[in-house]
Amino acid sequence: MAGLVLLSLLLTSVLLTPQQISAQQCGQVQVLKQGLIFGGTASTPGMWPWHVAVFHRESIRRTSYKCGGTIINRDTVLTAYHCVVENQRPIAAGRLVVRAGLFDLDVGGPTVQENRVFDVISPPGASARTFDDDIAILKMQTQFTYDDYVQPVCIRSERQDIGQLVGTYGTVVGWGWTEQSTTSAELRQANIPVVSAEDCLASDRNLFSQVLTTKVYCAGSRNGTSSCNGDSGGGMFFRMGGYWFLRGLTSFSAVDAKQSGICDSHGYVGYTDVAKYLDWLREQGVRYEDPLQRPGTVSKPVPSDGSTALLRLAVDPKTKKFLQQHGGNVLLRVQLNGRRVETVRGCLQYDTVPGYNETLEYFATDNFRYVGRTHNSKYIRVGMVGPTDGIIRFGKSRFPYGESVSEICLSGWANQNSEVNRHTRTSNSEYVNTPLKIQLTPNVLSKTRPMMFRLEVFDNGNVLLTKDGEKRPFLEFNDNRQRLDLDYIAFTKWNHELFYYYDCPLDTDANGVDDTVLLKCSLA
Ligand SMILES: *[C@@H]1O[C@H](CO)[C@@H](O)[C@H](O)[C@H]1NC(C)=O
Ligand SMILES: *[C@@H]1O[C@H](CO)[C@@H](O)[C@H](O)[C@H]1NC(C)=O
Repeated sequence: MAGLVLLSLLLTSVLLTPQQISAQQCGQVQVLKQGLIFGGTASTPGMWPWHVAVFHRESIRRTSYKCGGTIINRDTVLTAYHCVVENQRPIAAGRLVVRAGLFDLDVGGPTVQENRVFDVISPPGASARTFDDDIAILKMQTQFTYDDYVQPVCIRSERQDIGQLVGTYGTVVGWGWTEQSTTSAELRQANIPVVSAEDCLASDRNLFSQVLTTKVYCAGSRNGTSSCNGDSGGGMFFRMGGYWFLRGLTSFSAVDAKQSGICDSHGYVGYTDVAKYLDWLREQGVRYEDPLQRPGTVSKPVPSDGSTALLRLAVDPKTKKFLQQHGGNVLLRVQLNGRRVETVRGCLQYDTVPGYNETLEYFATDNFRYVGRTHNSKYIRVGMVGPTDGIIRFGKSRFPYGESVSEICLSGWANQNSEVNRHTRTSNSEYVNTPLKIQLTPNVLSKTRPMMFRLEVFDNGNVLLTKDGEKRPFLEFNDNRQRLDLDYIAFTKWNHELFYYYDCPLDTDANGVDDTVLLKCSLA
């Protein structure tokens, strides 16, 4: 697993200039083509340069094809959420591989750009079971190089109601329909019309009444031609004003009763309506191009949250060499405004975090400078910054092998839920987790902003976690079976890097808290 390299740069020699968004044109086929064959099924290499294949890495050597996806900018691919889920849980970003410039699924070739995924972002409501919010952003570890075979698609920035497209033909491309069916080796395409929600419902009320929402639309010819030529996660494209635009993501269809797992090619297919996610894309700092946007209606660029911003750094040759060795897959922590400030005022920072199964470093809280006590509780202030899975253990001994500690995992499941376990470990490979609580805590962690909170353990066994500036705890639990002690505390991680802050001042209203930012950096 390619871990992220974390490093801090000295601020004085670092010059930051946001990378210019080049005037790249989206949605243009680059290869010379001898007439497009619409309604047919074959495509030719380079005809859909924004269409990519998403693979799951099963082992070091083996990847298996899962889905299609669409390039919308140099380091971003859109796909369906259900394509990045395995056994109902989000798959680790490090296990996803994207191949762009691919035509024959079984044959690589010089046009193929293979890229690892750095981060997967999905809406809080995304579900692979109900197909709600079936959309996911894949942030790439390195940028795509645009050429004849790799290009971004366009997206309309004005919200055009899907009703206006009913009866209009869009094009779906792909290597096959589902994960289970046999895929075609060569990329195929099909033209299919958008149908109204009423027609779609009427065609199969059982299926569509459950999954049709305002963020989904249906398309299909119902004559056996097209829907199975689509590809889960791949796009449905419309040509307007000489540009190709992405509108739908192939999401779900009825299953053919005669062939299990194969879609019913005589039914309609549901597509995630990308136009319903424009605000969400902007909130995630994802850029896309709309060459048809009228001047004057340019929406203000929403500042990216930093984690996905691409910054071009001017660095000394030694640092540059180091960064290049890591292929641009580097999370930089840079201090802002050239001031020497601590990331979180007054805290000790912990950035050499051992892995989940490694021997952890337990800190004695009685040695902390800042420990709070009330007549019936003890509390400390801690924090963390990272994408998901901030994991804290605490208990009553420095080396708690064979005895239980309390384990709080903040924002597992792709930053959606937090989980509390009674964790009993006997060795680096053996442990038992007894779940005490699972709670919905969507996006409680941030990759860029330290999440600071008070951890308070009461004599009666109640534990409260309360975020800075909030009165009500966001997580609360109790272990009825054993007393919980906050004598020793340790920090670990699952498969993403995090920083922790501990021994923090207990007063939280002082200013100057968050003066650093994590940046995904790209190398020139
Ligand atoms: C199905 O309909 C589409 C247009 O809706 C047409 O292009 C295609 O040729 C038809 N296929 C068959 C097998 O009739
Ligand atoms: C920790 O060990 C368990 C059991 O050996 C394993 O299933 C799990 O994947 C490991 N976790 C990490 C993050 O390596």
